[in-house]
Amino acid sequence: DKITLDYSHVLKFIEKYEIASLRKKVNLCHDMLHKRAGKHKQCLGWVDFTNNFDINEFEMIRVAAERIKNQSDVFIVVGIGGSYLGARAAIEMLNHSFYNDLPKNKRKGPKIYFAGHNMSSTYFNNLLDIIEDQDVCINVISKSGTTTEPAIAFRILKEYMENKYGKNEASKRIYVTTDKNKGALKKLADQEGYETFVVPDDIGGRYSVLTPVGLLPMAVAGIDIHEVIKGAKMAYSDLSSKSIEQNPSYQYAVIRNILYSKGKTTEILVNYEPNLFYFGEWFKQLLGESEGKQGKGIFPTSMNFVTDLHSMGQYVQQGRRNIFETVLNVEKSKEEVLIKEVNDNIDELNYLSGKKLDFINKKAMEGALSAHVDGGVPNLIINIPEISPYYFGYLSYFFMKACGMSGYLLGVNPFNQPGVEVYKRNLFKLLGKSGYEEEYKVEIIPMYD
Ligand code: PA5
Repeated sequence: DKITLDYSHVLKFIEKYEIASLRKKVNLCHDMLHKRAGKHKQCLGWVDFTNNFDINEFEMIRVAAERIKNQSDVFIVVGIGGSYLGARAAIEMLNHSFYNDLPKNKRKGPKIYFAGHNMSSTYFNNLLDIIEDQDVCINVISKSGTTTEPAIAFRILKEYMENKYGKNEASKRIYVTTDKNKGALKKLADQEGYETFVVPDDIGGRYSVLTPVGLLPMAVAGIDIHEVIKGAKMAYSDLSSKSIEQNPSYQYAVIRNILYSKGKTTEILVNYEPNLFYFGEWFKQLLGESEGKQGKGIFPTSMNFVTDLHSMGQYVQQGRRNIFETVLNVEKSKEEVLIKEVNDNIDELNYLSGKKLDFINKKAMEGALSAHVDGGVPNLIINIPEISPYYFGYLSYFFMKACGMSGYLLGVNPFNQPGVEVYKRNLFKLLGKSGYEEEYKVEIIPMYD
């Protein structure tokens, strides 16, 4: 089974010939991605990374994950942005909805917590409160090795670990994922003898979920990373055709660009499964950071239905008509709940008895979809056969591939983030870090020359 795209509900808003008219441009962009024919060769490692995955590194991840599981009750993943969201999206999507609250014998790994993605003292102290008296391992992830938020979190946690275990034992409980050679974190890891994993040079943060950045935390959380990679490899092979007709990730990229050119400047990624909340967060970073530059780009957001149908649903139905929705439709629910018949029927729900809750969830989706389309909101549907590690690998690759294509079609470099760099450098400047005294100017690099 494959992940498929249903764009029948946008055909009221665009013509089929408009899709076909982008064929030449898609061919050109496809070559930029696959033949490294453009200016961003050094950012395209993710395109075929899973095919070239070093088996030794994969084995190192598996072994380290087993060790961490044996060593710890609690595993803290320290990172931000691309060094955080992919792992969290996978863990939240694939594990039990209340994973950390499960009794130990019902979990396939330690409890998982995240740090370094905010600078709240309250969050930090609360985290330290709940890990007291528990055995802890840490994975600190930072490609640059110098990002302020995770660096501060790690400084505090390092001290905590050394006080708790002594320097030597602490060093066996700290795992680092960073650049092969450079950065402060690499230096620290070498000095302290931490086990390290590599963020490949040619893969930016938001495209790194299928590298050790995402895979080590996933493996520690008991997720079958072989299946994740298998799904990603299948996606690579299914989505490597340059033909729009045969490549749903390109269809998606093309359609969102056509919608954008018609004033649909906001895209809402919709889910009907709370486990997909963080997939929405990952999606926002991927698309927002890749396309939002040079005064352009679809504003990507996400909504969690049916919850948000009772709040933002109003806006979607009748607010400004500059939005479209991309609905993640999980075809087969992992779990089932049956609605039973009751004698008194005071709640008047007996008409639903014998129905499964997921059936009703799907009806809510059908209802919202047709109402929104009638209300002037184009809807794309991405059909996902089921929630599993395999389909996580497939789906994340689908979006990365679509994002690369979509950014190129828009005429921006989908692999840099000069805007984020401005914030990072301004923070350094405001905090008085030496070497950052000057105001940082955004460099505008032309796309095609
Ligand atoms: O996509 C990006 O480049 C950013 O979101 C980074 O991933 C984020 O800022 C963290 O950077 P680093 O991994 O260097 O700490």
